[in-house]
Amino acid sequence: MKKMEDQLVVIFGASGDLTARKLIPALFNLYLEGYMPENFVILGASRSDLGDVDFRKKVVLESDYLKNELQDAKDGQAQKFADRLFYEDLGGSYDGDYGKLRNRVESFKQEFGLTGNIMYYLSTPPTLYETIACKLSEAGLSSDNSGWKRLIVEKPFGYSLETAKKLNSGLQKYFKEDQIYRIDHYLGKETVQNLLVTRFANTIFEPLWNRNYIHHVEITNAESVGVGSRGGYYDKSGALRDMFQNHLLQIVSLIIMEPPIGDAPEEIRNEKVKALKSLRIMKDEETLYDHTIRAQYVASEVEGEQLKGYREEDGVDDESTTETYAAIKFYVDNWRWKDVPFYVRTAKRMPTKVTEVVIHFNTPPHQIFKDSGINNKDNKLIIRIQPDEGILIKFGVKVPGQGFKVERANLDFYYSSLTETRVMQAYERLLLDAMQGDATLYARADEVEAAWEFVDPILDYWKNAKDVPLYGYAAGVWGPENADDLIDGIGFWRNPGKNLADDPGYCVIC
Ligand code: BG6
Repeated sequence: MKKMEDQLVVIFGASGDLTARKLIPALFNLYLEGYMPENFVILGASRSDLGDVDFRKKVVLESDYLKNELQDAKDGQAQKFADRLFYEDLGGSYDGDYGKLRNRVESFKQEFGLTGNIMYYLSTPPTLYETIACKLSEAGLSSDNSGWKRLIVEKPFGYSLETAKKLNSGLQKYFKEDQIYRIDHYLGKETVQNLLVTRFANTIFEPLWNRNYIHHVEITNAESVGVGSRGGYYDKSGALRDMFQNHLLQIVSLIIMEPPIGDAPEEIRNEKVKALKSLRIMKDEETLYDHTIRAQYVASEVEGEQLKGYREEDGVDDESTTETYAAIKFYVDNWRWKDVPFYVRTAKRMPTKVTEVVIHFNTPPHQIFKDSGINNKDNKLIIRIQPDEGILIKFGVKVPGQGFKVERANLDFYYSSLTETRVMQAYERLLLDAMQGDATLYARADEVEAAWEFVDPILDYWKNAKDVPLYGYAAGVWGPENADDLIDGIGFWRNPGKNLADDPGYCVIC
């Protein structure tokens, strides 16, 4: 296990939901697993009027998000961990003087033998990122002079290419690019990281991983939930900004990138940027019309339960045109992927929660088994990101008996079979990496900007062009009626079930 240096973790926005739900549980699990260094302190900072004791109770000792961990923790571990948590009330705003914060940092150094390494986590609205970075810099808390300083920022990284650039340059005024860690929790998922291993630690896939053998690539990200209590945020965002620009384009970059020279963070990140820059940007209205579909869920009844339509959700404008379903077809302009269509969709209120990548291979060039009924039985590689994580290869086998009838069989691997390894939650893995100074799984400024460059014209077209359709779909179905129109000449989306090996069409209504 790599040794972690002593450090102070400062969480801005510490009274918010993410801190209690994800960040503290991740840090507590790292502590229980023995990853945390001997000398560490966690300081929550935000505008709520809390003290150290209240904060410890809220996010550890009485936290609903830690029920199982608290039950399993031994020898007063929870109390020992909680004793390292402190809280700093920043008063009414984040743009006051950080002198008090600096004094606190100094006193922790003395009391806990810290050498000045600090990891900041900004779990605040993005509008505050630059202010906080500026105030830290003014207080002498941003430079690497006495101990390193790192800054983790949550999505959204901008609202468009222009705002992303502004945000990046705003942060870079106070922190160097190599101090900034842009978190994308999908990159913390084992199955997403495994895309790299599947491709580059095997010889059986990579020779086929190109336009000569791959017919098209399909990615589905579906959620059964609606927008819930996040209507206010979501209505200004929509599926394309919320999921596609970040999580899904990260997955795309791992699928299309060229092999890096090695696994050093910059080697991998350079290839990802190159990959994102090769996405063909759609500029003309005809292409945008043909290659994009947006839709919104409407009120419907599922299993006797009446579900609200998107426009009826709290915080959502009742004439909103924000998409809760987005499906995009696109091409990648490089040697490897020329003419291979990619189909990517993301949506809420789908029949089940699932994320998977399907690599569809070409039909054999010459049909030997004429009566095989081979249609739609081409080879597929299905990489299941979640749930029922695993990999499935679909291939043809002979049906026993006379003649050569071909049926499709499955060759599968399930992560759940690796019982001896505890799979880290995404936030655990990502925090651990940042605390150890490994930025491989964090997005670089140019990566984020390249993703926005592709997404911006679609958003612009949806917002400003005349007569762009916004379709409706009922909860529990796979999107609008015309969803398959996008897959022209190929047929239809593979509508995955809850389990990896379920065949298309299988539908779980949750
Ligand atoms: C978040 C989005 O980034 O990812 C949410 O803001 C979405 O809208 C969530 O629900 C999905 O994450 P996961 O890990 O549950 O697939």
